[in-house]
Amino acid sequence: MDTSLRLSSSTNRKNASKKSFQLGKRTWFTPRDMKLLVIGSGGREHALVWKLAQSPHVTQMWCAPGNAGTQLERLSKNGQTVTNLPIAADNIDALLVFAADKKPDLTVVGPDNPLAAGITDRFQAAGLLIWGPNQRAAQFEASKAFSQNFMEKHGIPTAKSGSFTDVDAARRFAASLDGRCAVKADGLALGKGVLLTHSVAEAETAVEDILVRRSFGAAGDRVVIQELLEGIEISLHALCDGRTAKLFPTAQDHKRALEGDQGLNTGGMGTYSPAPVLDAAELASVGDQILQPWLRGCREEGIDFRGILYPGVMLTQNGPKVLEFNARFGDPETQVYLTRLENDLVELLIASAQGELAPHELKWSSRASVCVVLASEGYPGNSPKGRVIFGLGDVASIPDVRVFHAGTASSGEDIVTNGGRVLGVTAVGNSIAIARARAYGAVNRLYFAGMHYRKDIASKALAVS
Ligand code: AMP
Ligand code: GLY
Repeated sequence: MDTSLRLSSSTNRKNASKKSFQLGKRTWFTPRDMKLLVIGSGGREHALVWKLAQSPHVTQMWCAPGNAGTQLERLSKNGQTVTNLPIAADNIDALLVFAADKKPDLTVVGPDNPLAAGITDRFQAAGLLIWGPNQRAAQFEASKAFSQNFMEKHGIPTAKSGSFTDVDAARRFAASLDGRCAVKADGLALGKGVLLTHSVAEAETAVEDILVRRSFGAAGDRVVIQELLEGIEISLHALCDGRTAKLFPTAQDHKRALEGDQGLNTGGMGTYSPAPVLDAAELASVGDQILQPWLRGCREEGIDFRGILYPGVMLTQNGPKVLEFNARFGDPETQVYLTRLENDLVELLIASAQGELAPHELKWSSRASVCVVLASEGYPGNSPKGRVIFGLGDVASIPDVRVFHAGTASSGEDIVTNGGRVLGVTAVGNSIAIARARAYGAVNRLYFAGMHYRKDIASKALAVS
């Protein structure tokens, strides 16, 4: 990015009526020429690539490693396609070698692992602009014990909890909650390290699974036990720049594999936004109860969080309680948020990375968005790869529908399955009901062997709205 160019005041006057672009502290009257590197390969990253590609600033984009969908996206500025790179998202050494050579003006990190491993610190040390929290700030997701301590210390509403390395102490605490617990591996466990228990015997088994049988490996060196909360769960997202936090509208995920919130926990089987369970005033109040003490705590502890803070929140009879913090965009929350966001995402992410978010106002479409995840046979367990996906060309022309790829790969002329969550079929409409009908209409035109999906995504919202 050319940051040396300053616009004179006469240019400013002349351009007063022209469209302007806010990049960092500066207002520009012509788009900048920027190269972007996006890291990750899921549905979240396809949605990020799609949205970033619409920016008039972007002349080149790479995605490492990307999927079959990311490399089909074209930049609105020059029609170029996005280039996938054969570099894994957690291969920080190789990403740095690439970035040192090609000098992207902005690197955008999707997943949690590279953030927890310090990719931001290393890119910054090499003089590269990167979006996503540094290693210290990423602890909000990388260590549930860290987050829990932080919440208790700074008065953020959360579940009653304890963290343990000793099996007997953990068992005693679980027993004091009558075994009605969420037993969690402390570290990153691909979203699978949480066991919900309803009896002392179940809680003891869960503690032993994590601390003794090491079901989640080193992520389970420590266990965090929370009281089991009841209520309605929502996803919050706030874009942060170290000092400011800009709250997104509500979204709701569907974590369980099967309809009616049955079956195993997954990374997320579908989302919708907005979630009518909270109106705007209630959302602002919930946001304040969490974000104000969080920002104060970060200031007091010198934590410089620049990225997305994504609290998972249970709305209980005793008010909102944070279940966990994530330090990245949710997947598939990103798919519904970015199909509603009206701002230029490049400008927002640069402002977030540079600590200059305050003047930016987030603008959201009043339309609703619904994303239905199509998963592979066996997901959330192991799933076969290489099954041909049919219907993608057909649904590409449906207005207001966008199919974000997740676990897909190209194989000759075909696009094939390459992971557990395969596609995120996302539709917008003037109401949740319309968006939902559009999304399922498109789902009906897609097929791969073993495909399964929930048929009740957003149905809770229909009952409320
Ligand atoms: P987490 O990864 O910590 O968000 O947990 C995964 C899922 O487990 C959450 O989305 C909730 O549905 C559930 N969960 C986590 N903690 C609790 C809790 N304390 N009470 C009830 N459910 C929980
Ligand atoms: N949608 C759940 C997650 O991103 O963690």
